[in-house]
Amino acid sequence: MKEIVSSGYSVWIGEKSLTKLDFLTYSKVAILVDENTKRNCLYKLPKFDNCTIIEIKSGEEHKNITTCSFIWEELTNNHFDRNSLLINLGGGVIGDMGGFCASTYKRGIDFIQIPTTLLAMVDASIGGKLGVDFNGLKNQIGIFNNPHSVIINPEFLSTLPENELKSGFAEVVKHALIADKNLWNKIISTSFNELIWKEIIGTSIQIKNKIVASDPFEKGERKKLNFGHTFGHAIESYYLEKGTPILHGEAVFMGMILEIELAQISEENKQEIKNYILSNFSLPYTPKKSNLYQYLINDKKNKEDKINFSLLKNIGDCSTDNLLKLDEL
Ligand SMILES: NC(=O)c1ccc[n+]([C@@H]2O[C@H](COP(=O)([O-])OP(=O)(O)OC[C@H]3O[C@@H](n4cnc5c(N)ncnc54)[C@H](O)[C@@H]3O)[C@@H](O)[C@H]2O)c1
Repeated sequence: MKEIVSSGYSVWIGEKSLTKLDFLTYSKVAILVDENTKRNCLYKLPKFDNCTIIEIKSGEEHKNITTCSFIWEELTNNHFDRNSLLINLGGGVIGDMGGFCASTYKRGIDFIQIPTTLLAMVDASIGGKLGVDFNGLKNQIGIFNNPHSVIINPEFLSTLPENELKSGFAEVVKHALIADKNLWNKIISTSFNELIWKEIIGTSIQIKNKIVASDPFEKGERKKLNFGHTFGHAIESYYLEKGTPILHGEAVFMGMILEIELAQISEENKQEIKNYILSNFSLPYTPKKSNLYQYLINDKKNKEDKINFSLLKNIGDCSTDNLLKLDEL
């Protein structure tokens, strides 16, 4: 089992990481699951005395205040006090929402993140961003707060649908491209099915952890993590509005392809990145740029009416605050 120390908490990675749950001393424990993690993941956890299972429906459409009310009600009805623990067993939806509920219940109880999707393992469970969607706006209500710990068992990925696995991998590719050329070389020289998840997840988390530790509130360095996400979020919104939502990672892969065109990197590097993505992942069609303008002009990161991009300087290096007008895209 490997330990990565983050700001004030540990991330445990490996098949034995769940044994960390054996040493907890809380008055009560609740485990937040959805129907998929209840079926596929819950039985792998140790049995706790005084344990309440809180089940919610899966999906981003349930990441809202109504579901939070249900979670707070369950904690209240089962007399959870401030020495209680909430374990969030699931993908980014469960982690973001469960972490938010725990952080606000009685002004905050401890929570442990046990991510069960690749996206949640390498991205959502690291960095302390918690929250829910509100009035159609993603992550509109939330806070920064750190968990007691994060426990990552790559074996959970065995039941994850392949499209979800590949979608989560977009964030691994992003981490490699913005910060670690060695990881990029490993990725492009290994067939997707032969990647060793424990290693890939560990390296990917180390990259995010280092960036987040240096800039917890996204004033500078942390903006690098937005690479691929400016166009990516616009593409995600475009498909959502059309009524045919796509996976976050699919949008991020397309966003990375569009954003490398704006970067000052060699043609050879651009081709290498595009070839790798397009030959390994089947993506929906990329909307015309003009169809994305309405979303880009509303991007939270914009400054002086310009769109704010994080762009590659090289493979393994990234610059932030590149401000471009729509007609420069
Ligand atoms: N906090 C952050 O820094 C951060 C970063 C990135 C994304 N996010 C958030 O993460 C969310 C997306 O997370 P996600 O991609 O994990 O989606 P998700 O939580 O919706 O999970 C995807 C699907 O996989 C199912 N599932 C989960 N684990 C499974 C398993 N082991 N076996 C079978 N099925 C399983 C879930 O039930 C769900 O249907 C978004 O809400 C996004 O805003 C947060």
